[in-house]
Amino acid sequence: MVIRDIREMQDNAADFRAAGKRIAVVPTMGYLHEGHSALIREAKNRADVVITTVFVNPTQFGPGEDFERYPRDLDHDVRIAKNAGAGIVFAPSTDAMYEPHFSSFVLVEKITSVLEGKSRPGHFRGVATVVAKLFHITQPHVAVFGQKDAQQVIVVRRMIRDLNFAVDLVVVPTVREKDGLALSSRNTYLSPQQRQEAVVLYTALSEAQKSIASGTVSSMELVEEMKGMITLHSSGVIDYVSVADAETLEELTALNGHPEILVSLAVRFGQTRLIDNILIERKESNH
Ligand code: PAF
Repeated sequence: MVIRDIREMQDNAADFRAAGKRIAVVPTMGYLHEGHSALIREAKNRADVVITTVFVNPTQFGPGEDFERYPRDLDHDVRIAKNAGAGIVFAPSTDAMYEPHFSSFVLVEKITSVLEGKSRPGHFRGVATVVAKLFHITQPHVAVFGQKDAQQVIVVRRMIRDLNFAVDLVVVPTVREKDGLALSSRNTYLSPQQRQEAVVLYTALSEAQKSIASGTVSSMELVEEMKGMITLHSSGVIDYVSVADAETLEELTALNGHPEILVSLAVRFGQTRLIDNILIERKESNH
């Protein structure tokens, strides 16, 4: 079932809750791929009703970003969502989500001023705002997000805690192509040459993971190693390569004392900006 009207979605959610059904939401911007299907399947394991939202959210795009050209195909999305187990696709219009004179935003501070937030000012204000709205509209018990957008997960987790949303956050590992490239709707923008080169992102992250496992504790060394690989094997222009504490996103110089580390990067291939990350659990070592 496709629902486009906000009030109708809210009424349906209220009915599900009244009938004792558990609701899971999978927020997306559409153009669904296997990565989204994995989120929807996970949601289906955890709830009676799965709502996939499809909404290209203008407030999380900066001026000059790809809002206009972001790929859209609702029929395709409905098919994929249904096959993966979603009972409802909620696809509101931009005008309904953002009425004239809209002026209420959710601002998660500190962790949004680094990495993606630094490169894309205002991005997480848009994300937090739309996710809060989607929570109010779909009334979920569970929300499923992908690890691919690592900082988004951290920001949404913070918002859920800070604003007392009664929503359990479930994070699903990144789904990758056979050669390691993380699935993303933006991969469709890549030329065949760029597509080949983009494999280096995952190779660089994997190498960093190996270096950490074999005892490297200097993040500068890791960052230099990753930057070197990307520059050598691709035409990609590095936006950032980061080694940070996975909760605070504080950029690290030494890894000791940090049980979970987020190694992440953003690289531009022509007009296309790709992100990827690996979360590394570190058993505290004696190095
Ligand atoms: O990850 C996305 O696709 C978007 O940022 C989200 C969470 C659907 C909010 O628009």
